[in-house]
Amino acid sequence: MKILAVIGSPKVDGNTYKTICQIEKKLYRKNEEIEFEYIQLSRTRLELCKGCYICIEKGEDKCPLKDDRENLERKMKQADAVIFASPVYTYNVSWIMKNFLDRFAYRCHRPEFHGKKAMVVVTTGAVGIGFVTKILSFMLGSMGFIICARAGITYAPPHEKDEKMLQKETDKLIRQTEKFYNKIINTNPVKPTLIKLLTFRMQQKAFSKAPQNLADYSFWNKKGWLEKSEGYYYKVHVGIINKLIVSLITRLIV
Ligand SMILES: Cc1cc2nc3c(=O)[nH]c(=O)nc-3n(C[C@H](O)[C@H](O)[C@H](O)COP(=O)(O)O)c2cc1C
Repeated sequence: MKILAVIGSPKVDGNTYKTICQIEKKLYRKNEEIEFEYIQLSRTRLELCKGCYICIEKGEDKCPLKDDRENLERKMKQADAVIFASPVYTYNVSWIMKNFLDRFAYRCHRPEFHGKKAMVVVTTGAVGIGFVTKILSFMLGSMGFIICARAGITYAPPHEKDEKMLQKETDKLIRQTEKFYNKIINTNPVKPTLIKLLTFRMQQKAFSKAPQNLADYSFWNKKGWLEKSEGYYYKVHVGIINKLIVSLITRLIV
């Protein structure tokens, strides 16, 4: 089983990296066959997004920035599960993580990672865990990742060392790592929430009306997702009530 950790801290041996090391150890104790790979975004050649919109309109292969993006995407596709980690910097994700999200913005339109399980890890000095974890999970979710576990870990500044608090944070991390592992080994297709089902239907409606030379149209068409009979990004049972609600709301909105 391959697990990839994408670390968005500019500090290669900072709190975020150390948290991922703890997760790796815990996972390895569960299953010695896990192959764990670290990607330090600070050491990855990922140029700053220029906002040209070419990736969204014409396709990511037309992106004028030639760097490690493609390789990064390949690694995420090949992994069985991915851990995304960022420190809280000024009440937000780090700029490195934000640039990573911008560079993969086209995946919100063309969600290639559907069904892939992920864990979100956020480290902070004191505050910001709640909304940074939420926004990071939301963004990755719209690219298709299923967020199975979220760990927000607080590291008090060194002059405030508090062993009891650190133990509490470690226990939290262990619980979330266990949850993540249990979800990864369960191979049953994850049932989508109503919001996810609605998102699929809305995107399906929008992209079926898009110009045929738009990258989004070709992607959705190639996947077969523009067929009206298709109800979700992957094969999964959807209950009749959810089907009815989705069709009713779609009719009312579109
Ligand atoms: C530029 C910068 C901004 C920060 N902003 C916040 C913040 O808004 N809230 C907070 O509680 N901690 C903040 N911190 C503390 C970090 O979130 C915390 O130390 C984190 O664990 C650092 O992870 P790292 O060692 O991987 O960089 C900030 C640290 C830096 C360097």
